[in-house]
Amino acid sequence: MSKIAVVGATGLVGENMLKMLEKQNIPFESLVLFSSEKSAGKEITFQGKTYIVEALTEEKARAHFDYVLMSAGGQTSLKYSPIFESAGAIVIDNSSAFRMFEDIDLIVPEVNEPKLKRGIIANPNCSTIQSVVPLKYLNDQFGITRVNYTTYQAVSGSGVKGKQDLLNGEKGLPPQNYPHPIYNNVLPHIDDFLENGYTKEEQKMIDETRKILNLPDLKVSATCVRVPVLDSHSVLINVTLDKPTTVEEIKRVFESAEHVVLIDNPSNNEYPLAINSTGKDEVFVGRIRQDDSLDNTFYIWCTADNLLKGAALNAVQILKQLLDKGLKRQ
Ligand code: A2P
Repeated sequence: MSKIAVVGATGLVGENMLKMLEKQNIPFESLVLFSSEKSAGKEITFQGKTYIVEALTEEKARAHFDYVLMSAGGQTSLKYSPIFESAGAIVIDNSSAFRMFEDIDLIVPEVNEPKLKRGIIANPNCSTIQSVVPLKYLNDQFGITRVNYTTYQAVSGSGVKGKQDLLNGEKGLPPQNYPHPIYNNVLPHIDDFLENGYTKEEQKMIDETRKILNLPDLKVSATCVRVPVLDSHSVLINVTLDKPTTVEEIKRVFESAEHVVLIDNPSNNEYPLAINSTGKDEVFVGRIRQDDSLDNTFYIWCTADNLLKGAALNAVQILKQLLDKGLKRQ
């Protein structure tokens, strides 16, 4: 049985990582919960036992853990993940700090498997995770040659501060986290702007899609938008396929795809919705239709819980993949 640590246990994703450890029945010998100094001493009850949250220090990271689930931001990860790794742990990191390193695995268990050249595995960007699951099944059946994403992302993707901006905005208070009010508004801006005019979030979707699907030459573009929704991201995927096919064939592929739920009955107003995805493990797809402006190109509306499949659940599924397949560091 394993020694497990959760870093960022008091955060939105960390809290859900604990719930997912329980839901996925992950066995462990010991569990240690870490936060910053701010939340040290806080009590968290998990499976009937009370744990005292500890402030993470370099010395504590040098203790041996088998697995570390980390969701405490990029800077914390850059500092502590290599220390945990040197002490023999496999770190599953939710931040973007290591995702594009060549020797670091970037994993969505439905799509790919870690090679473990390093003891750090990166959990991908939330919108990317939910998008590459349906894309993997399309790539297996038809090959994909081009993808264009437009996202409608919930405020919980920005952590506690994002939710506060929406809830405070409703009361007429100014934003603390976003550059503009998110209440009653739509922000075409997630993360910092790059010189090419894209945002870092958009560039993450482009780079990470290619890496996870192992399609380095795939044509990908993205526009990422924050919307006044508390939980669950929606993504409009516009995908060009290699082999010609039909809407009906694509629906059949999704009907038999693991962890994908097809909801596509527009005449009854049935299609994936953010509010119906919250709290669910699956990725929902619907409104499948031909893009009449391009050959062999289709639209897919895709929703998922950004804190679960987009973060905590995917991280715990990676841990389960390691345990089930007996995967070890090289
Ligand atoms: P804390 O509660 O002490 O701030 P969110 O993104 O939802 O705001 O959560 C961020 C999580 O990362 C929190 O649990 C936060 O702890 C934790 N965290 C932030 N900085 C550090 C750090 N330097 N070391 C360990 N945990 C950290």
